[in-house]
Amino acid sequence: MTVLNAELAATAASFFSDGPSLGDRVVQWQRVHGRHDLPWQKNRTAYRVWLSEIMLQQTQVTAVIPYYERFLQRFPDVFSLAAAPVEDVMALWAGLGYYTRARNLHRCAQEVVATYQGEFPADPALLQGLPGIGRSTAAAISAFSYGTRAAIMDGNVKRVFARVFGIREYPGNKPVEDQLWLLADSLLPAEGIDAYTQGLMDLGATVCTRSKPVCMLCPLQPHCVASREQLTAELPVRKPKKAVPSKRVLMPVVMVNGQVLLEQRPPSGIWGGLLSLPEIGGMQLADDALFEPDTNAVSAFAEKFTEVQSVRLLPDFEHVFTHFRLQIFPVIAEGSRWLPQVAESRYSIASPEQADTLALPAPVRSLLTTLVQDSSL
Ligand code: ADE
Ligand code: SF4
Repeated sequence: MTVLNAELAATAASFFSDGPSLGDRVVQWQRVHGRHDLPWQKNRTAYRVWLSEIMLQQTQVTAVIPYYERFLQRFPDVFSLAAAPVEDVMALWAGLGYYTRARNLHRCAQEVVATYQGEFPADPALLQGLPGIGRSTAAAISAFSYGTRAAIMDGNVKRVFARVFGIREYPGNKPVEDQLWLLADSLLPAEGIDAYTQGLMDLGATVCTRSKPVCMLCPLQPHCVASREQLTAELPVRKPKKAVPSKRVLMPVVMVNGQVLLEQRPPSGIWGGLLSLPEIGGMQLADDALFEPDTNAVSAFAEKFTEVQSVRLLPDFEHVFTHFRLQIFPVIAEGSRWLPQVAESRYSIASPEQADTLALPAPVRSLLTTLVQDSSL
């Protein structure tokens, strides 16, 4: 079982040891400065709250509002929604995006009718078992509809907490996220869970914004690490980019009388079915900067096709694919005449001037074009 990291717990406790707690500060602030006129804040029922929370999962408030109004007109309660053909639900959702939400919305309505007689349960654990409702959405629905003390944890809350507590790790990391949930649970105010929950959302949307938060207007400013240490641009830590794997290949340019040896690539894989220069390697190499292209390997390869007279390394270059980068080391191996091996079916010879007319991968085509243009190579 995960427990709240002692250091974080101590920090959280000490931050708000003098004066109102974080929870009370958010509640007080929300009551004065938060949003109170959003359509789902009027005559709150679990159905209306649920509908709004699903729509707001991946969509901005301003985009949601007209959809929310239309939905409520067409489906005023969970029974009318559950009874509707799914096509009608999809049609009304069209334009909001993330359509799995609409399918789940319909399924959820049917389950609430079938299992709970049309009453959304108040227990977040039960809500969380329904289609399309995760832990945070369950907490929000329960807090807004029934006043349940349950913690939400969306992108806004992660941002506010990462800044206030100076969390210097990516909050999407599972262990960090676990800590954030525990922290969120420990910070819930004794009173005013609806104002608190809405307040965290409002703070994230209007004050503690992704770029240029307005710390001067923030009720948490006196306790905020990011504000004090000028770290708001650095926190929350962004998702680390996956390192793109890198491969290196030697690309023999076997030349005889101005003609080069080409090889038909296998039908699948990168450059599948294209004509290309042969490759040696393709091995995944560590990022050793001292890589020395093995010209002997190129000689040995070229010897099958010609009696090699000279070998020259050309400048290497990189080609970036979606999932990896390929560092290409072209090596010219020049001979005086072709040996019979050239007749093997997957090989052919062509002059670099033909490059534009052959089905070559773009970087190979430009390499051959360079050979034509720069006769010194
Ligand atoms: N985003 C998610 N839930 C919200 C709510 N109740 N109000 C404003 N934005 C939200
Ligand atoms: Fe965000 Fe600034 Fe408030 Fe800290 S003080 S929580 S950075 S708005």
